[in-house]
Amino acid sequence: MLREVSATRYVLPLREGGSLPGLVEADDLGMYVVKFLGAGQGRKTLVAEVVSGELGRALGLPVPELVVVDFDAVIGRGEPDPEVQELLKASGGLNLGMDFLPGSLGFDPVAFEVDSGFAGRVLWFDALVGNVDRTWRNPNMLVWHGAPYLIDHGATLIFQHNWRGSSGAVARAYDASDHVLLSAGPDLAAADAELAPLVTEELLWEVVALVPDEWLVDEPGFGSVREVRAAFVEHVLARVAGRGWLPEVGR
Ligand SMILES: Nc1ncnc2c1ncn2[C@@H]1O[C@H](COP(=O)(O)OP(=O)(O)OP(=O)(O)O)[C@@H](O)[C@H]1O
Ligand SMILES: [Mg+2]
Repeated sequence: MLREVSATRYVLPLREGGSLPGLVEADDLGMYVVKFLGAGQGRKTLVAEVVSGELGRALGLPVPELVVVDFDAVIGRGEPDPEVQELLKASGGLNLGMDFLPGSLGFDPVAFEVDSGFAGRVLWFDALVGNVDRTWRNPNMLVWHGAPYLIDHGATLIFQHNWRGSSGAVARAYDASDHVLLSAGPDLAAADAELAPLVTEELLWEVVALVPDEWLVDEPGFGSVREVRAAFVEHVLARVAGRGWLPEVGR
């Protein structure tokens, strides 16, 4: 599993996020942006954050550290906003934390130049995991100490919301038309040659093993959490075996 910390203080809600993520201090004195178990989208968002985020990291992409944050719902009692209090009350147990990058800026493709190699690797990765949340409207990239970071992978791997029909999504094409890095001239061919061979069964098992059991247990249609992990591995492995999903841009 990921490194685990315990929340000691709820600092403030991050109002920009649709899922009401919050800034939380933990017992290692670190500050984390936490995605809560009790948020509308539920635990599958957290699973997607871990599987895609750690896969991206394994492919060499810059993703801030992810941790599991043990949260005692009592911490939310002092929160004045009733919406936040409800969320915290419903989020006792294990939640997802991302290392907070203080003073980071939202990525702006006009103000921050990335090379075609980096753009290609990010686009290739987003296409593989079906990330619809890296658009010029909502880039979900931060710039910190002069370098870009990828955040917010909660809306990836949406096949897990319909396991019965998931085989139909294996080769599903990725629509890159609004991707934030299109203007950077992504070199998809180079990214494909470099990254596809890295996405092995062994690597995928390492990645899915980082997801806490609690977020996978009692999944309808599965006999064990191992079976759920295996289903993720199989799906991504089958997807990377073909290329129908790769967008046409830059090729
Ligand atoms: N690690 C971080 N360091 C600093 N700021 C962060 C970090 N993670 C998220 N943020 C800030 O919080 C905002 C919301 O985070 P995030 O995009 O992960 O949440 P979300 O609820 O999934 O958002 P949405 O669905 O609106 O894209 C980000 O746009 C960013 O401004
Ligand atoms: Mg976001």
